Amino acid sequence: MRTRITDLLKIEYPIICGGMFRVGRAPLAAAVSEAGGLGIITSATFEKPEDLRQEIRRAKKITAKPIAVNINLFPSVRKMPNEAYIDVLIEEGIRIVETSGRSPEAYMKVLKDNGVIVIHKVAGVKYAKTAERVGCDAVTVIGFEAGGHPGMEEVGNVVLVPQTVDAVQIPVLAGGGIADGRGMTAMLALGAEGVVMGTRFLATQEAQVHDNVKQWMVQASERDTSLIQKTIGTTSRVARNEVALQVLEAESRGAELEELLPLISGRRVVQVYEEGNIDAGIFSCGQSVGRIQGIPTVKELITDMVSEAKQTADKLGRISNVINA
Ligand SMILES: Cc1cc2nc3c(=O)[nH]c(=O)nc-3n(C[C@H](O)[C@H](O)[C@H](O)COP(=O)(O)O)c2cc1C
Repeated sequence: MRTRITDLLKIEYPIICGGMFRVGRAPLAAAVSEAGGLGIITSATFEKPEDLRQEIRRAKKITAKPIAVNINLFPSVRKMPNEAYIDVLIEEGIRIVETSGRSPEAYMKVLKDNGVIVIHKVAGVKYAKTAERVGCDAVTVIGFEAGGHPGMEEVGNVVLVPQTVDAVQIPVLAGGGIADGRGMTAMLALGAEGVVMGTRFLATQEAQVHDNVKQWMVQASERDTSLIQKTIGTTSRVARNEVALQVLEAESRGAELEELLPLISGRRVVQVYEEGNIDAGIFSCGQSVGRIQGIPTVKELITDMVSEAKQTADKLGRISNVINA
C-alpha cells in the first residue's frame, strides 16, 4: 500500500491508532507500529513528563519502527505545561506527533525546528484549513461516528472526508467509524490517504484494559454509544452505560457543569479499565463498536484489514462494470 501518508511517515500501511487517554501506552503503540501501522503513545495519560519519557523508552524496546506521541492541547487536559512534554518527546527522538484539542500553531516552530512531523486532528473542514495554514504536514478529520470527541458539527465521514480532501492540499486521514478493510477502502475511495482508528484498537489483545470492557464491545451493537456533553460544548461519543444515561438525564433537565463533572470525571475510567466495572464511569467508544466481533492481536487485526482492503479493491473492478454498464 502506498499513499503520501505511508511515504511521509515511512510506514507500510496507512493505518494509525489514534491517541487514547489511558489506553495509548507502550505495548499497544509498539504493536501497531511493529505490524506496519503507526502506534501512538498518549501523553495525557502521564502526569509527569518523565513518565512519558519512560513510556517512550519502553515502546522503543519493543519496536524499532516509527512511533508517535499524541498531545491533546485542550486547556484543561493537564497540569504541567505542554512544552515540558514536547521537550521530552524531542529528546527521546520521537519524529511524529498527533496534536488534538486546539490548533498547534503555538508549538509549530519548536516541532518543525526539531524535524517533527505534525498530524493535527480536527472535526471540521475549517479546522483542517487552519491546520494546513499553520504548517501541519497532514490532517486527520474526525467524523460524527467517532469515539471520543467528534466535534460539534455532526457531519459523518461520507460527506466530511471528500469536503476536507477538496479543501486542503496536505494529505488527509479519515477517523471515525472505521474498523475493517472495507471501511478503510471506502475512506481511500473518498480521497483519504490513510485511516485513524481508536475504538477498534481498544478491543485488541494488546490494549491494557480489563477483559470485561473488550467483551462488552464484542456484544455491543452500533447503537450502543451515546453522545454526551453536548450541552456544555464538548460533545463526546461514549459507551452507552449507566453513567452515560445519568449524564444524558442530567443534561436533559439543564444540569450545570458542577453537577456533570463528578459523572464525567476521567478518574472514574480507572474503575472501568482496571477493575472491569463497565458502569463505573464514562469511556469513549465509537459506532464502529457494532462491527467488532472478536479480540484479535494487533498483528491479526492489521493483517486482516489489509487483506480485506485488497479483496474490496478487487470487487471495485466489478463495481466499475456496474458504473460503466
Ligand atoms: C477510548 C478512547 C480514548 C480516546 N482518547 C483520546 C485522547 O486522549 N486524545 C485524542 O486526541 N483522541 C482520543 N480518542 C480519539 C481517537 O484518537 C480517534 O480519533 C477516534 O477513536 C477515531 O474514531 P473511532 O473510535 O470511530 O475509530 C479516543 C478514542 C477512544 C475510543
